[in-house]
This record gives sequence, C-alpha cells and structure tokens, in this order.
Amino acid sequence: MSLQAPKGTFDILPYGTNETWMLTRSWQTLETTLRELTTEYGYKEIRTPIYESTELFDRGIGETSDIVSKEMFTFTDRGGRSLSLRPEGTASFLRAALEHRLLTSGSLHKFYYIGPMFRYERPQAGRYRQHHQFGIETIGSGAPEQDAEIIDLLTELYRRIGLQHFTIHLNSVGDLPSRLHFRNALLDYLRPHFSALSPDSQIRFEKNPLRILDSKDPQDQDLIRGAPSILHSLTPDARSHFQTLCHLLDRMQIPYVINDRIIRGLDYYQKTVFEAILDTSTPRISLGGGGRYDGFVKNCGGPDLPGAGFGMGMERLLQVMEAQQLLPSQEPSPFLYIISLGEKEKETAFWLATQLRHAHIAVEIDLLSKKIPAGLQHAAKLGATYAAILGPEELSRERIQLKHLATREQQELELSQCVAIIQQWHSMRSH
Ligand code: HAM
Repeated sequence: MSLQAPKGTFDILPYGTNETWMLTRSWQTLETTLRELTTEYGYKEIRTPIYESTELFDRGIGETSDIVSKEMFTFTDRGGRSLSLRPEGTASFLRAALEHRLLTSGSLHKFYYIGPMFRYERPQAGRYRQHHQFGIETIGSGAPEQDAEIIDLLTELYRRIGLQHFTIHLNSVGDLPSRLHFRNALLDYLRPHFSALSPDSQIRFEKNPLRILDSKDPQDQDLIRGAPSILHSLTPDARSHFQTLCHLLDRMQIPYVINDRIIRGLDYYQKTVFEAILDTSTPRISLGGGGRYDGFVKNCGGPDLPGAGFGMGMERLLQVMEAQQLLPSQEPSPFLYIISLGEKEKETAFWLATQLRHAHIAVEIDLLSKKIPAGLQHAAKLGATYAAILGPEELSRERIQLKHLATREQQELELSQCVAIIQQWHSMRSH
C-alpha cells in the first residue's frame, strides 16, 4: 500500500519538489514579510485551535452559506460533541476574543492570524481542502478610515512582494435596511426568470437571494449581468460610508475598481466588501477578500462593537509569486563548510563548528567523511562561501586551510586564531 497525502492537501517541503511555492523557504519568506508588515501596522497575532464546536460556524458564518452547508469537515468526538475543522478564521478569532474578554469598548483591537483552514471543496487549481490564510481582524472602529487601513495593508503587502496584475474590487452590501430594500428589488427582477435559474440559485432565491449574485454557474451569468445594483439601495448612512472610503482610497492613491457584483459568501458582512482579484486568470482567482462586519460581534454574544477584516489565501499568492518569479531562488547557504580527514581532526572540526555556530555563523560539517574533492563539491553545491580543510598534516602544525570557493584563493590560519578571524570575515560580509 502506498500512502499519499489526502486529496486536496499537500506537503510543504525543504527540497524534493520542482514547485517553488511548495518549498518551506517560500512560505518562510512570505511569513517574515507578513509579520514585519503587521507589526508596523500595530496588529497582534492570535492563534486559535483548528477545530471548534460546529455551532460556532453554523451561527457565525450562516447555515445557508456554501461553506457551512456543503464544505465543513464535521465530526463527532468520543464525548458525543459535534466539532468542525475551522473553514475560516473570523468566527474562531471572535470566539477566542470574547471568551478571554479581549474586546473592551472604547479601544481599538487589531489582530492577525496565519494558519490552516479546511473546506471540503472539489479540488482544482488554487482550491484546496486544507488551505492557509493570513487574516486580519479589527474591532472597535466603524469609521471608513478603518476599512481604508485594511485595504491599504493588503495592497502594501502586494507592493512589498512586487506582485503585479491584481485589482482590488470594492463594493458595499449596505446595512440591514439597505439589504432588505435590495433583496426586494432583486427578487422582483428575478421572479419572472425563476425557472431559468440554476437549481442551486433556485434554493438561494428562497433562502438568501443576494448570494445568487455570487453564483459561478454559467446558467445564472446572463441573469446576474442584468440584475439591479445594490449600490442603488444603500441608505444615506451606508452610502456616505462608501463614498468616504472611496475618497480615502483615492487620496491614498490605492487603485481599486467598484464592482457591485462582489457580495462575498459569508453572512456577516455589512457595508464594505472587497476582493483582491488576479487580472490574468479565468475563471477569476480571488487572492484575498474581506469587509466590514458591524453587528457580528453582538450576534455572537459580545458587546455591540463594529469590526472589519480580510482573509488572504497563502497558496494562491505563493503560486502567483512563483509565476511572477518573486520567490527566493536559493536556500540560505552556510558561510563555512568544514572537511576533516581522520578522527582527531573531526574532533577539532567539531570544536571549530561549535564555536562559530555559537557566534551566529552558519556552519556545515562533513559527517560522511568525504574525500577532499567530493567535500569541496558538496560545499559548492550548498553555496558555502568558504571551505575549511583539516588533515593530519595541518593538525600536527596546529593550522587549518581556508579556501574561498568563488575566488579559489586559499590561505592557512593558526587554529588558535581562526575563530576570531572567521568571525571578522563574516561580519565584513554581512555589512
Ligand atoms: P474567504 O473569501 O472565504 O474569506 O477566504 C479568504 C481567502 O482564502 C480567499 O480569497 C482565497 O484566497 C482563500 N481561499 C478560500 N478558500 C480556499 C481554498 N479552498 N483553497 C485555497 N484558497 C482558498 C474568509 O474566509 C473571511 N474569514 C475573510 C475575512 C476576515 N473577512 C473578514 N475578516
């Protein structure tokens, strides 16, 4: 029996794959950028369990959403409790923040998370059953400036990694009265065409008609194109919020397009919604998406505080980074590779490696007792800057040979001084 990773999942490997986006170093590079960025914007990391009670997602995300009704990995534990692997981060984050009373009124709370999410979807390009999200959530401010800040954070991330060919699609799904008005307008428009709707959208017509606008079914596309715009149903408050946000983004020179078909597949959004979409792909690939969710904290049993955030799929971003050649092409390489010939020499080599490693210098040591040519070849393959050679002849004179692998220059150092000298070379290189 040959065992394989479950369908829709994949391994992140240090080597052994031609797909650079699956290499650990690609993930680490992206994660480093994310941590720097969130620190600069004042967001704090939160880590929650990968499973929660099923009820949290039913109530939080909405039982009629595809994520909850079709895509959750739900199981019963030995104690008879219904649990689900988290399909997204917002509900889990909020559960944790409320449980630990983090959300005091009168202050602004800003969090981020990086971790796996689980959705039982049909695996296809860019769609996994276990995917990873970087997400941010802010609680406490209902101001459009807050929406502008999170859109800026996402755009700044893309700018820092050099991403091209993406567009922020922006819309407002209004407040509750706006949505009620729009729901009626949409139902009036769709009613005469009910039989032309896809079976899924016929169900949505009864339960959650707005989501019809989100349908990817080709059968629904023509009808969706002619549907009324939610932007015409906004209350004065929701309209003014949207206009101020657009003004702020213009002022900050953050490019976006208004797209009134962006509805988002989760029930908690109010007012602003947005998606970062890759321009070069059909069907459309959403690199990240989010929006405002005023009312959600209260619905989950917390204080009446506004919130906003987004989630960004890391696999999709890394795949696009690979296509746009934005991923690091090399592993970090050792500064020194030590080849020793003989048991006594190996002992001294170990002493040297340990001294240098304790001084924060990356050192590899040949444990497989290679001959000098094979050792040098391996050092070059690892991208080492120097190779050190310690044979019986060198040891008897308390010396060591150092070879600069690029220039092939070779010099002999006294063993008693070599730690200090190599440290000096290293610090010169890193400045
Ligand atoms: P979402 O749009 O469902 O939003 O997911 C966010 C992002 O995760 C998507 O834009 C996509 O890049 C990625 N993603 C989703 N499903 C998959 C999948 N099966 N395979 C690969 N990537 C995927 C949320 O989850 C909200 N919680 C975002 C949010 C946070 N809104 C407010 N705060």
